[in-house]
Amino acid sequence: MKINAMKEKYFIKTYGCQMNVYDSHRMAMMLEDMGYEKTDKQADADFVLFNTCHIREKAAEKLFSDLGRALLIKNERSERGLDTVIGVAGCVVQAEDEQIFKRAPYVDFALGPLTYHRLPEILKKIKQKKQSGILDTDFPCESKFDFLPENKATGGCSFLAVQEGCNNFCTYCVVPYTRGVEYSRPVKDVIDEAKNLIATGTLEINLLGQNVNSYHGEDEKGVERNLAYLLNKMAELDGLKRLRYTTSYPADVDDDLIKCHHDIDILMPYLHLPVQSGSNKILKLMNRRHSAETYLEKIAKLREANPNLRFSSDFIVGFPFETDEDFEKTLDLVDKVKYIQAFSFKYSRRPGTPAAEMDGQVPEKIKKERLDILQAKLFDLQEKFNKSCIGQSFDVLFEQKGRHKGQLIGRTPYMQNVHVHAADDMMGKILKVKISDATTNSLQGEVI
Ligand code: 5AD
Ligand code: SF4
Repeated sequence: MKINAMKEKYFIKTYGCQMNVYDSHRMAMMLEDMGYEKTDKQADADFVLFNTCHIREKAAEKLFSDLGRALLIKNERSERGLDTVIGVAGCVVQAEDEQIFKRAPYVDFALGPLTYHRLPEILKKIKQKKQSGILDTDFPCESKFDFLPENKATGGCSFLAVQEGCNNFCTYCVVPYTRGVEYSRPVKDVIDEAKNLIATGTLEINLLGQNVNSYHGEDEKGVERNLAYLLNKMAELDGLKRLRYTTSYPADVDDDLIKCHHDIDILMPYLHLPVQSGSNKILKLMNRRHSAETYLEKIAKLREANPNLRFSSDFIVGFPFETDEDFEKTLDLVDKVKYIQAFSFKYSRRPGTPAAEMDGQVPEKIKKERLDILQAKLFDLQEKFNKSCIGQSFDVLFEQKGRHKGQLIGRTPYMQNVHVHAADDMMGKILKVKISDATTNSLQGEVI
């Protein structure tokens, strides 16, 4: 029997988007290859890693309060004679650079989102006490994907990054500065990673990218291929039952992609298509390349391709110069699309982005009022959709254990959480479930 007691433990806290969840997973795989073992208890961890998000001010500030707590835990462990390495990865590192060490000098290293393949080498240096306070915020020429160990599934659903970075420069957004310009992975790399994920138990793959539908990776002949091509290739893979892609930029939704929603059976009937605002004046100030009308045209075409398709979106309220009239236009658009889920945020001024310097900043109180109104409407739509599912049956992919004994939580094709009584060995499998009850946030059902 292998004795695990001496294995060093790692703890990763992930903030922000699905891309960060994916990056954390890839870093975890690297650590496991190095002989580390995962722990969910920070106080037990020899290595603590914070994978950070810089998209809104709150997300970035959360890191520094968590780092303060990490120092207390590090001191406590040190009294017990235990060393703790503290690392920070992700977009805050790219944006804050040396500021991280100024505000938290006990951090051992900080790595940007494009250089985390260097994690093993950096950890080794720190553990041999050769160096500390290492900062790596390169935008390297090499692609980190070429240096990462093979990806493995840890459940029935997996993320797979196919594209990273963004050239859109929405005026509120830090992503083009933290994740760099667009890069698309070659088709073969993506397909090989998908095959590995399927071979290790994945039934569902969600292709990720900051602007996933601008994917333009090369095939083996060096020909640039679009996302529609990639989705069709993915659909040919044996054993894959569900396919998704996120996040899409509305102006880059082309006819090829729309056709996929008609042609590909395993492509789930749920699409996250962030509109941000329903006012053309605000969309222009945001530097979005769509208007409310062109966005609605795309939605109509997608619905035509697959009438079962439902949508989710991101919204920003209180962007500079947003009037009550502009905000009303957002509410009108919500009524037209009838989103079944959505994320909505108060505009957050991000240093270095054009919108942060704009006149016409909206007072916090008004932002809050608008957010409350918008969220009430969005939650209402979400609840209506969930209630409309009562009595219907869906394929549910079970992803996690519920709070109660014998309860599992899975997802419908529409990404709704469903609580079901089912045996533990159903985890990672797809079963038909009849929905018996629904609230705003989840469904209840029975396996049939
Ligand atoms: N303030 C508020 N929300 C923002 N988002 C991006 N930048 C900001 C910002 N400065 C939101 C957008 C985006 C989502 C990931 O985060 O809605 O789609
Ligand atoms: Fe940010 Fe706009 Fe790029 Fe999305 S499309 S990552 S919001 S700049």
